[in-house]
Amino acid sequence: MNNRKYKLSASLICGDIINLKEDLKSLEKGKADYLHFDMMDGLFVPRFGQYPEILKSIKENSKIPVDVHLMIQNPEPYIEVLADAGADVIVPHIESTPHIHRVVKKIKDLGVRAGVALNPGTSLSTLDYLIDEIDWVELMAINPGIVGHKLIPNMLNKIYDLKKIVGLRENFEIQIDGGVTPGSASKMVTAGATVLVCGSSTIYRPKEGSLDVRLNEMRKIIDTETAL
Ligand code: DX5
Ligand code: ZN
Repeated sequence: MNNRKYKLSASLICGDIINLKEDLKSLEKGKADYLHFDMMDGLFVPRFGQYPEILKSIKENSKIPVDVHLMIQNPEPYIEVLADAGADVIVPHIESTPHIHRVVKKIKDLGVRAGVALNPGTSLSTLDYLIDEIDWVELMAINPGIVGHKLIPNMLNKIYDLKKIVGLRENFEIQIDGGVTPGSASKMVTAGATVLVCGSSTIYRPKEGSLDVRLNEMRKIIDTETAL
């Protein structure tokens, strides 16, 4: 892991599946901190995403830790298979189950790091009785499922408000998914974000050089702007 105050997670679903193996090499070279893995069921969000068998192949071909974003209804039955496939962090949506506390416990009991994801319209108060059980919150800065949507501006306030709740807790990650662009990234970090999901507007922007180069470009932009 790097010693910056933020980390970059590469949104694998934004890549061309045919090039996955080459992409993984480039992400290793560029020292991506995490690989972001989007599982979707066509119900919780309006498209299908990646599935556990792909995760297993990724883990066999890369040492970068994988954070699994679970955009599926009723995630509980799939936790074990994801843990077996090698997930390093499992992040179900708080809106996807009436039993989020039980799902979090199941993840932790399997020895995997547990987080929860919140849609843009979901209040931070839903974390009141959960925050002590987790050390990772993924805030959606767009409505989930579709890539390339624009940042919902008041999500910057939400990051800031969550940072206040988390306080000085060590090793607690505030991850932002969606809307991360060269223009918004440093604002997110300044507000308190610690993991940025880099997708279609940053490292996977079409035709602009290799992923490792683009990871370093993002770091340069964020480091410069947050030093001001
Ligand atoms: C959206 C996915 C993201 C996606 C983010 O639901 O979870 O991982 O890549 O969007 P972009 O690529 O637009 O930043
Ligand atoms: Zn995601």
